[in-house]
Amino acid sequence: MRLANKRALITAAASGMGRAGAELFAREGARVAAVDRDAEALKSVVDGINANGGKAEGFVADLSDNDAVTRCFGEATAWLGGIDVLWSHAGMPAPSEFEGFDLGRYERAAQLNVTQATLLASLAATGMHKQDKGSIVFTSSSSGLVGSASSPLYSSLKAALIGLTKGLAVRYAAEGIRVNAICPGMVATPMLYNDFMADSPFSREETEKRFLSAIPMGRPGQPEEIAHAALWLASDDASFVTGVALPVDGGLVAR
Ligand SMILES: NC(=O)c1ccc[n+]([C@@H]2O[C@H](COP(=O)([O-])OP(=O)(O)OC[C@H]3O[C@@H](n4cnc5c(N)ncnc54)[C@H](O)[C@@H]3O)[C@@H](O)[C@H]2O)c1
Repeated sequence: MRLANKRALITAAASGMGRAGAELFAREGARVAAVDRDAEALKSVVDGINANGGKAEGFVADLSDNDAVTRCFGEATAWLGGIDVLWSHAGMPAPSEFEGFDLGRYERAAQLNVTQATLLASLAATGMHKQDKGSIVFTSSSSGLVGSASSPLYSSLKAALIGLTKGLAVRYAAEGIRVNAICPGMVATPMLYNDFMADSPFSREETEKRFLSAIPMGRPGQPEEIAHAALWLASDDASFVTGVALPVDGGLVAR
């Protein structure tokens, strides 16, 4: 098992890629602290993991509140007994407009995508530093690697995480803490259909066709495919990998 005896914290774990990650990390032997604001969905994920012989506990927190981030990290790591792996996955879309953009919405997106992830990583690094070992994985996006015309603001926030990944990777390399980012392309989760595609002026079918035409593989990713990439980065299989922003996108950014 790739994460035997590892203590892992995953945010946005009640749905999509985070859920797939919580289930996969648990199957690979990790004790999983699953964090999300959706209490009911989180309970069903955690119950499912425990019913299948894994070890998980849910921590309900709205990570748009920085005090809640700190509080929930404390509760989760008390239950875990420390931390070896952080998959900081929570994030949200930013406004698609640029001229006259909604500053409040942008600031909420900046807090969740960048400030919250930075705070969580800082708390995790403190724990990992004491044991000179650990792995941090951020969820950036293909939009952090290449410009997104549909949301330059989202591109800027996800690119910030890549900068943070590289800086932390260099700072902590000698301490045995690896820091990497995954950059999903379009992944079949509620966020893809309810958020990213929702702004489109076209029908749902036409919108999906246009989105998918950008992907060389011609299909969206499945949450499990991203979870496997996160697992690899989190595990000792990637022991010489740090500072990487790994596209998991069906070839989207290779064009
Ligand atoms: N789906 C995509 O196509 C795609 C592509 C690239 C990057 N991403 C990134 O992936 C992450 C989203 O993951 P997903 O697509 O698996 O989404 P999803 O819609 O399946 O799940 C999002 C989860 O985040 C939780 N959440 C949202 N806001 C929260 C908050 N303030 N506090 C705590 N929990 C909160 C929700 O309750 C939900 O369980 C984001 O960081 C997003 O930017 C998504």
